Amino acid sequence: MKKLGIIAGSLRKESFTKKIGKNIASLFPEGWEAELLDIGHLPFYNQDFDDHNEVPKEIAEFRDKVDGLDAVIFVTPEYNRSIPAVLKNAIDVASRPKTNNVWSKKPAAVVSQSPGVLGGFGAHHHLRQVLAGINMPVLAHPEVYLSSVGDFLDEEGKITNEDTLSFLQSFVDRFIDHSNKYD
Ligand code: FNR
Repeated sequence: MKKLGIIAGSLRKESFTKKIGKNIASLFPEGWEAELLDIGHLPFYNQDFDDHNEVPKEIAEFRDKVDGLDAVIFVTPEYNRSIPAVLKNAIDVASRPKTNNVWSKKPAAVVSQSPGVLGGFGAHHHLRQVLAGINMPVLAHPEVYLSSVGDFLDEEGKITNEDTLSFLQSFVDRFIDHSNKYD
């Protein structure tokens, strides 16, 4: 069984990002176990945690969880043309200490979303820059920018647009091929 972590960069109860993350999780075949990881409870990273051996329990547990994953999909909204601070913090806390960056070498992919028309393009590419810095091999194509997301999510959070679903299925298939290269 392969373990997929889905990290959604929004804490909002009715978050589009989380709903899209759940839809993506449902497109994985048998043999994959997908989990949406909580990040809202993580303290802001402070280097003293590692320098003085005072790592908060929440961070230690999150690092262990990430360490146990086989692959990671980041789903992000765009905040002021970049990624939300809560997502950056989650990435930062598990990237240290430098000798134990638990993201390193895990196959990854980026999905960005917006209720507007630009599909989170700015956030998407800032996130790719960050993932390069923590040594994650990121799926290059297809690039997933989801725009006007409020138009295709129903009240239960399901994607109603067949074209979007089939595009996301092809993305998931490509992501699986990508991940298999890093077994
Ligand atoms: C936004 N939003 C936004 N949208 C966008 O397309 N580009 C942007 O730069 C921004 N900037 C931005 C900043 C801040 C602080 C907030 C709170 C929001 C709108 C954003 O896309 C919208 O609120 C989404 O619904 C956020 O995703 P979730 O919470 O639905 O997952």
